[in-house]
Amino acid sequence: MYPKGMYVPLFIAIVAIFVSTSFMVLDHLTFKVHRSHHHHDDKKTNQSICDSFTPNFPTIDPSTTSILCVDHNGCCNFTTVQAAVDSVGNFSAIRSLIWINSGIYFEKVIVPKSKPNITFQGQGYTSTAIIYNDNANSSHGTFNSGSVQVFSTNFIAKNISFMNVAPVPGPGAVGAQAVAIRIGGDQAAFWGCGFFGAQDTLHDDRGRHYFKECYIQGSIDFVFGNGKSLYENCQLTSIASPGSRSINGAVTAHGRASKEEDSGFAFVNCNVGGTGRIWLGRAWRPFSTVVFANTFMADIISPEGWNDLNDPLRDQTIFYGEYNCSGVGSNMAQRAFYVQRLNDTQALPFLNSSFIDADLWLQSFSN
Ligand SMILES: *[C@@H]1O[C@H](CO)[C@@H](O)[C@H](O)[C@H]1NC(C)=O
Ligand SMILES: *[C@@H]1O[C@H](CO)[C@@H](O)[C@H](O)[C@H]1NC(C)=O
Ligand SMILES: *[C@@H]1O[C@H](CO)[C@@H](O)[C@H](O)[C@H]1NC(C)=O
Ligand SMILES: *[C@@H]1O[C@H](CO)[C@@H](O)[C@H](O)[C@H]1NC(C)=O
Ligand SMILES: *[C@@H]1O[C@H](CO)[C@@H](O)[C@H](O)[C@H]1NC(C)=O
Ligand SMILES: *[C@@H]1O[C@H](CO)[C@@H](O)[C@H](O)[C@H]1NC(C)=O
Ligand SMILES: *[C@@H]1O[C@H](CO)[C@@H](O)[C@H](O)[C@H]1NC(C)=O
Ligand SMILES: *[C@@H]1O[C@H](CO)[C@@H](O)[C@H](O)[C@H]1NC(C)=O
Ligand SMILES: *[C@@H]1O[C@H](CO)[C@@H](O)[C@H](O)[C@H]1NC(C)=O
Repeated sequence: MYPKGMYVPLFIAIVAIFVSTSFMVLDHLTFKVHRSHHHHDDKKTNQSICDSFTPNFPTIDPSTTSILCVDHNGCCNFTTVQAAVDSVGNFSAIRSLIWINSGIYFEKVIVPKSKPNITFQGQGYTSTAIIYNDNANSSHGTFNSGSVQVFSTNFIAKNISFMNVAPVPGPGAVGAQAVAIRIGGDQAAFWGCGFFGAQDTLHDDRGRHYFKECYIQGSIDFVFGNGKSLYENCQLTSIASPGSRSINGAVTAHGRASKEEDSGFAFVNCNVGGTGRIWLGRAWRPFSTVVFANTFMADIISPEGWNDLNDPLRDQTIFYGEYNCSGVGSNMAQRAFYVQRLNDTQALPFLNSSFIDADLWLQSFSN
């Protein structure tokens, strides 16, 4: 499970320090700081950094997987994640496991459609992160603002964080949407990952996706897109301003446009907490489909729970369901009329990985 308590705020504090003083480099979980950029010619320092470099590569079958190594101190193949991605051939028949050492990689990363079967393996979501700071303004639209953008199929990430550290939008801000990752390919899976941002953190854009034991932080619409995704045992943390009388955030904005599309978000055994006064979801498009099951909800959830974006026509077509949830925020007594309290039969299709046809693809990823 995700570590509780102070690890995450501590990590954020370290990131803030990194962003303001770009010569500092994170060193493993001890958070020691080197001034390594000034030592390019200093053989001793350089060697001592790499002497302690002992990558814990997983055991792989070289006939199905190749390992590429990324270390920001230059101790192995690549110093940036993008350089490793660039080195992978188009439509490689085998998986490329990109092993990424602890540290902060301040870069924008794109995995193009021509590179399926890529894995990002970090050393823990509080110690390995890919970070950038574009927002909708700086990148000509929310959809291009992602620190990481994946357009290929069969992408996997383990034990790594994706962050956007653009300034958190104030009330009424325009153009401040800042995506941490855009997942635009089918059959992607995330284990033990972190997603950090404010407005529009996780762009679950399209395709079937799986998230297990992930930490997802944001304020407005922080899981959004038109994906068909299962989120299991995830922590969803709102950073919307505390003490607000009006609603100032939403967990989801699912963007299903028609009945014919096959998409929806299912959250199972999750935990919704943090600050602010938020909705579970807003109907970005008319057939927006979201279910929360067996999930704990703190008192930050507004009693009506959900929002139709002031378009009553959507009330007929959106599918918002809750099943066997707990916590003060899960009280359905004052929910909007279109919200469904699902019975066992209705909930069943959303409760396990069959929702995303896992038997066709996810099983082979699990090791
Ligand atoms: C020393 O550091 C430089 C730059 O970070 C890197 O290119 C080089 O490979 C390093 N040398 C060794 C022996 O690790
Ligand atoms: C990465 O480094 C290892 C060990 O130095 C080497 O055997 C391998 O060929 C390198 N891989 C790439 C893609 O450069
Ligand atoms: C890989 O595919 C991209 C996109 O189709 C193409 O632009 C590029 O030239 C290809 N690279 C190689 C080495 O074939
Ligand atoms: C992914 O890799 C597997 C082998 O591990 C291969 O069978 C499959 O064709 C690859 N998928 C794609 C889309 O290249
Ligand atoms: C993630 O890291 C934890 C702690 O270091 C480790 O126990 C776990 O096996 C890792 N998980 C994956 C999927 O790499
Ligand atoms: C985005 O650009 C608009 C128009 O220039 C400006 O009003 C707004 O403040 C900008 N937003 C951010 C977050 O920079
Ligand atoms: C309902 O949620 C509780 C935890 O609050 C869990 O123990 C129980 O198994 C759940 N029931 C079903 C039918 O999933
Ligand atoms: C669950 O709800 C559906 C739709 O309202 C209904 O048709 C079905 O009979 C219910 N099933 C149970 C077990 O209550
Ligand atoms: C998911 O649940 C359905 C309905 O209970 C069941 O038929 C299916 O085998 C389950 N799938 C998995 C992967 O457990």
